[in-house]
Amino acid sequence: MTTAFDPIRVGRTDLKNRIVMSPMTRSRAYGPDQTPTPLMATYYAQRAGAGLIISEGIQPSTAGQGYPDTPGLHTPEQVRGWRGVTDAVHDAGGVIYAQLMHTGRIGHPDNSPTGATPVGPSPIRAAGQMFTHQGMQDFVVPEPLTSAQIEDTIADFAAAAANAIEAGFDGVELHGANGYLLHQFLSDNANKRDDDWGGSAENRARLVIETTRAVATTVGADRTALRISPANPLNDIDEAEIAGTYSHVLAALNPLGLAYLHVLESRAPEFTGVLRAAWHGALMLNPATPGGRTGPEQLALIESGATDLLSFGQLFIANPDLPARLARGLELASPDMSKAYGGDERGYTDYPALTEARSA
Ligand SMILES: Cc1cc2nc3c(=O)[nH]c(=O)nc-3n(C[C@H](O)[C@H](O)[C@H](O)COP(=O)(O)O)c2cc1C
Repeated sequence: MTTAFDPIRVGRTDLKNRIVMSPMTRSRAYGPDQTPTPLMATYYAQRAGAGLIISEGIQPSTAGQGYPDTPGLHTPEQVRGWRGVTDAVHDAGGVIYAQLMHTGRIGHPDNSPTGATPVGPSPIRAAGQMFTHQGMQDFVVPEPLTSAQIEDTIADFAAAAANAIEAGFDGVELHGANGYLLHQFLSDNANKRDDDWGGSAENRARLVIETTRAVATTVGADRTALRISPANPLNDIDEAEIAGTYSHVLAALNPLGLAYLHVLESRAPEFTGVLRAAWHGALMLNPATPGGRTGPEQLALIESGATDLLSFGQLFIANPDLPARLARGLELASPDMSKAYGGDERGYTDYPALTEARSA
């Protein structure tokens, strides 16, 4: 029987186990111009026991930044900063993918280095508010992208993916989940376009497909992955119909031979089996855990064959050596979520690993 502690080859990389650190924004890129810092290198290296680390969401362009103090991958300084992170992870025996996240309409001019209005598929404001250094503020009406700007956005993703490889990442995951730009295009409540990029399910799926193709062409399909979250209402997404939309996505991407498909299960757990059956490659699952967080009980999903890899978010914040603890059935620490976004080493790099935890 295959277990979470068995190795697996994903794309062109061998992973020592099937336990993945899920991408988590931590808003601590305090280097000049959204550059990663040595503290971030320490944080990721502490978690190198994961079969695969997926970085926090990284903006592929200035326009892609929606949150304060998130890192970029579009300048030479940012590439140099990330090299410090990937070297530290590799030295500790880990593997790390970069998650490329364009937040689209989920942003605020006060979080943009240029003060720009966020962009989106259509001029439809998301319900809700955004963290800014000035406090919580309502989302704004986004500037709809022109078709020329859509082509530029795809090119930005491809360029950032090339930068990720130059910075030493083992691959790239595109953030097509959680209500950010690619998910906004997929969703018929955020995307009301009547051109080739909106309307039908096929047209709404076009941006995620074309972006994935462009990135796969640039860095190799075996170093390219996609994260989706069908029916996830986060960030004011309302996907009336998921079967048609995502069948277009999978049909177009199956022939490419991507490294993996990462599914955040959210509100449609029954759809996971449909995706599992339709997807020809490796599946990574971040299961819905109603009222809680993904925990040890989900390791059985690998044993049953429901998924090939399992990703954990919050438990990796508080348990840097999570795979070792899971393997030995040891107790798990709970994260202090008040320190999730921004701040210093507290609630970030000061969670002890197993050995310190046991002597404490
Ligand atoms: C602090 C925090 C930041 C997150 N940032 C991201 C992100 O940048 N990209 C992403 O795809 N998901 C992000 N997520 C979602 C996680 O990857 C994961 O899907 C979610 O936490 C559910 O998994 P869990 O129950 O194991 O925590 C974030 C979650 C948390 C708690």
